[in-house]
Amino acid sequence: MIQRALVTGGVGFIGSHVVDALVARGDSVAVLDVLSTGRHQNLNPKATLFQVDLRGDEVADALQSFHPDVVFHLGAQSSVVVSLRDPVQDAEINVVGTANLLRACVGAGVRKVVFASSGGTVYGEPDTLPCAEDQPLRPRSPYGASKVAGEALLQAFSASFGLSGTALRLPNVYGPRQDPNGEAGVIAIFGARMLRGEPVTIFGTGAQEKDYVYVEDVARAFLLASEEAESQVYNVGSGVGTSVNTLFSSLAHLTGYALQPSHEPARPGDVFKFSLDGTRLRQRLGWRIRVPLEEGLRKTLSSLRGS
Ligand SMILES: NC(=O)c1ccc[n+]([C@@H]2O[C@H](COP(=O)([O-])OP(=O)(O)OC[C@H]3O[C@@H](n4cnc5c(N)ncnc54)[C@H](O)[C@@H]3O)[C@@H](O)[C@H]2O)c1
Repeated sequence: MIQRALVTGGVGFIGSHVVDALVARGDSVAVLDVLSTGRHQNLNPKATLFQVDLRGDEVADALQSFHPDVVFHLGAQSSVVVSLRDPVQDAEINVVGTANLLRACVGAGVRKVVFASSGGTVYGEPDTLPCAEDQPLRPRSPYGASKVAGEALLQAFSASFGLSGTALRLPNVYGPRQDPNGEAGVIAIFGARMLRGEPVTIFGTGAQEKDYVYVEDVARAFLLASEEAESQVYNVGSGVGTSVNTLFSSLAHLTGYALQPSHEPARPGDVFKFSLDGTRLRQRLGWRIRVPLEEGLRKTLSSLRGS
């Protein structure tokens, strides 16, 4: 059966891979994106674009006209650093924008919403690692707080209006189309700089660990979650932390980079050691990591070479 799917943030880094996976399985796909950090060149040619801000009335119009069965909500102010600089704008897009979208979903009779939450920021400093879904939510940035609020809205719309919504708490996602000029996405940034032979800066000692998962594995988690009728919360994680120093060495090895990194002070709000327990997603929906880190780094470098 052909499904109608709408992806907010569908010309952004992760959203564009979700769109590609939906198109590949034969769905009819629309993208809702204001093209702030997203780029037109990421638009899958088979997808329809609604160039609309999540906060506006046009969101309801877009949903009424496309009539999606499923909505993948990845459109967001997606930077921790920007949220520290402008927490009001972060909340307007990520909280008010999410409420506006969910209201439009109810109005258009959407069957399921899958929301991109953030495993790396909603838990803060977890008590145990790898961090499971039942750990307390203690965000340390306005961005993390806005993701907790988005999850709470999803839960409230499920209880009040019967809208089924699943939150995916994403790890540090990496892969092709991640902005190498941005302030997040250490693999894209290091990889691009190393390929150009430019100096690389590590914030803090480089011993800080995060859970890195290749973007196509993350996109598959969105498709799997959309097939489940009930509302759920899932971590999308490998359960393994990798340090920035390890990433630096692996990428230096793969690119033949010979310079030493320079160091700057650690960033405020940065969590020191982190990994996400993906057991629930594996057991309930059969999700697996298909692209291990080494292979993902090679794929990312080869796309950076081509861009
Ligand atoms: N990249 C990661 O590692 C990571 C980790 C955890 C969670 N997430 C979440 O996953 C989602 C996708 O992240 P990404 O890395 O692809 O970021 P991204 O910035 O590439 O994508 C976000 C998209 O949202 C669009 N957008 C921003 N404001 C909008 C608005 N007001 N109205 C409509 N569209 C708007 C942007 O143009 C962009 O295309 C986000 O919700 C982000 O918070 C990402």
